[in-house]
Amino acid sequence: MMKTIKERVLSGMRPTGRLHLGHYSVLENWIALSERYEAYFFTADWHAITTQFDDTGDIRENKRQVVIDWLSAGLDPAQCYIFNQSEIKEHAEMHLLFSMITPLSWLERVPTYKGQVEQFKSQGKDITTYGFLGYPLLQAADILMYLPYGVPVGEDQDAHIEFSRELARRFNHLYQTKLFPEPKGLFAKVKMLPGLDGRKMSKSYDNYISLSADEAEVKRRVWQMVTDAARIHKNDPGHPDICTVYAFHGFYNITEQSAICKACQLGEIGCGECKVKLTAKLNEFLTPIRTRRAELEQYPDKLDDILRDGNVAARIRAQSTMESMREAMKL
Ligand code: TRP
Ligand code: SF4
Repeated sequence: MMKTIKERVLSGMRPTGRLHLGHYSVLENWIALSERYEAYFFTADWHAITTQFDDTGDIRENKRQVVIDWLSAGLDPAQCYIFNQSEIKEHAEMHLLFSMITPLSWLERVPTYKGQVEQFKSQGKDITTYGFLGYPLLQAADILMYLPYGVPVGEDQDAHIEFSRELARRFNHLYQTKLFPEPKGLFAKVKMLPGLDGRKMSKSYDNYISLSADEAEVKRRVWQMVTDAARIHKNDPGHPDICTVYAFHGFYNITEQSAICKACQLGEIGCGECKVKLTAKLNEFLTPIRTRRAELEQYPDKLDDILRDGNVAARIRAQSTMESMREAMKL
């Protein structure tokens, strides 16, 4: 790996199921950064247990699927290390040592905590466990383990990156060391892709298109998209600004978007035709992703090799950081 910049970036995702188009902008950011930085990407399988401790059976398969999604989307294993969190036991040791210096109040006031607890409670599930409260702490260990310059994630992870900076400062101060950096959140600057119904694209709203969707699925999903409901006949003048299909043209059919806008406003294009155009563009976008997926599914050993190499590289880094951490604490 010949990189111009020697600094590291690191990021992870919980293996909770297949990725969709809404995740793609984060993956694009990973791909771009992995060309310039020493880059580590991992499946956060321990984090997945925090909210599905009563239903862990899917995690193993999801771990594979999420990595297949990354690689299909174009993440190049020759340019980065891909590994599983739970293979690197050092994350657990760092989490434990950090737990000794983390005030409970820091964890209780992480903005996502109370909201998540409430959300699960409304679904009849109690996640007020020790493990879930410690979610940001485990994430801070994941991050600080690799002494990274930055962490490419969605903006929703901002508070967690901030938590890792606060923890780094506290550790460095307590043990008079400069071991831990204060990593930056590297957020992709993109407009948010809406879901089929115009809300944020999300698994829980069932308004997504999977990266692994086949042609029939794409067609079915585009047909579910919300358009300008006031348009009944093709020659009714439309309002593209309130139409999800139109928003999608802005992502996947940029060259035609303004022509579609005019034709819609003038009542010269019907929603059916407009959806057919979008379906074709989405399939065009997904074709290389499907090809790479088919290859990976044909040669499962390849995935095992990639993960084995990634685990080895991550473990070397992790062991080195843990030695320094124990040393700083005089253990
Ligand atoms: N909390 C992240 C998410 O839900 C996943 C994650 C765990 C992570 N550890 C991390 C992301 C470390 C970046 C760095 O997406
Ligand atoms: Fe939306 Fe296209 Fe229908 Fe206009 S023609 S409302 S942009 S689907």
